[in-house]
Amino acid sequence: MPSATPSPSGSRIVLGVAGGIAAYKAVEVLRRLMDVGFHVTPLMTREATRFVGPTTFSALASEPVRIDLFDSTDHPIPHTHLGQSAELIVVVPATAHLIARMAAGLADDLLSATLLASRAPILLCPAMHTEMWEQPSVQENLATLRRRGVMVLEPVSGRLAGGDEGAGRLVEPESIVEMVERIVAGYRGALSGRHVLVSAGGTREPIDPVRVITNRSSGHQGYALAEVAYRLGARVTLVSAAERGLALDVARGVSVRRVESAAQMREAMLEAAPSADAIVMAAAVSDYSLVPAAQKIKRSSSRLELSLDAAPDVLEALVAARRPHQVIVGFAAETQDVLDNARQKLARKRVDMLVANDVSAVGAGFEGPTNEVVILGADGSVHELSRRSKEAVAYEILTRVASLLAQGAA
Ligand code: CTP
Repeated sequence: MPSATPSPSGSRIVLGVAGGIAAYKAVEVLRRLMDVGFHVTPLMTREATRFVGPTTFSALASEPVRIDLFDSTDHPIPHTHLGQSAELIVVVPATAHLIARMAAGLADDLLSATLLASRAPILLCPAMHTEMWEQPSVQENLATLRRRGVMVLEPVSGRLAGGDEGAGRLVEPESIVEMVERIVAGYRGALSGRHVLVSAGGTREPIDPVRVITNRSSGHQGYALAEVAYRLGARVTLVSAAERGLALDVARGVSVRRVESAAQMREAMLEAAPSADAIVMAAAVSDYSLVPAAQKIKRSSSRLELSLDAAPDVLEALVAARRPHQVIVGFAAETQDVLDNARQKLARKRVDMLVANDVSAVGAGFEGPTNEVVILGADGSVHELSRRSKEAVAYEILTRVASLLAQGAA
């Protein structure tokens, strides 16, 4: 366990439960939160009580479950009281309806009113059918909430209610509790006072004014790193080559610089690097580029040959310019012999940490909300992380960065 893991005793967590079939898993989340020492106040919507009995929550939690805005006997305005006293509000499951109400700022029951009346960090754990999850309305509402600083633990692919398979399955209760612990640790400042520089997305090398050479990187892992570094108290600069228009949003406090090519990424990273305490190079940077044609290449012959030159190695330039105690993390995208290749890359790149993933594996790598990585340290350590959300992977990486920075400062 990284040293940033808090001793949660006394921390008050509001556990919101909305009306979805995954509500039964909130019972397990509650039990685990209690086990690690949180004070948990459960809060259910009326619809949630159709899926799990309120008595179950009352019996297991630190205090009785609350459901209605107006039936409180101990407090006249329960939503403001609950919102103000919470160190974190976690919603399991967050339904499409609850997400929409939050995005619209509605407060028509105790849970939505508490969410609105609170300045505490909020972690949503959505769960719904794939068709709902993929609706632009749901994704746009989530993007809006992310922009406002709400954290989202993305659902994973797997078996859904009714025997269907697909994206929308609630992340495992264990991962939710781990995330809650780490957020609470973060609010106690694992990276506070630090400047973290992150790169994300896949670069695009122009061929002519309309065409590019690019790769399959979505930018999700880099965005999750920026978001989580921000949550851990860092000042964050994100250099993003992720395509515009993708539903990638980070908290307002993260400063984002958009770039396209490897050369632009190099320039932006080197400009921000001198003030950075840690650099995480999560972007998939092109290894080759070309001099683009000034005009659109016409379809005039049956064959077109492009001649590519080596693109700048951004990581190499950053390592060459590294300042004392600066922590540098590289990524390794591999499709075979992941561990062997990663070991060699770690030595060759002279980074403090290398995060390797098999980009051809299901549920890992470039596309989708989950990743499965191995973290190699310059000290010879090897940590294999089973498949989990890219946010959870980001926490693993950044809590290690925080301990390296603490060691460097010592
Ligand atoms: N990287 C970089 N500039 C490049 C290519 C890669 O800074 N032009 C960085 C990536 O951001 C990543 C690390 O180098 O952090 C490793 O990238 P990867 O593509 O796995 O390795 P390469 O060095 O390109 O080696 P190869 O493609 O031969 O595996």
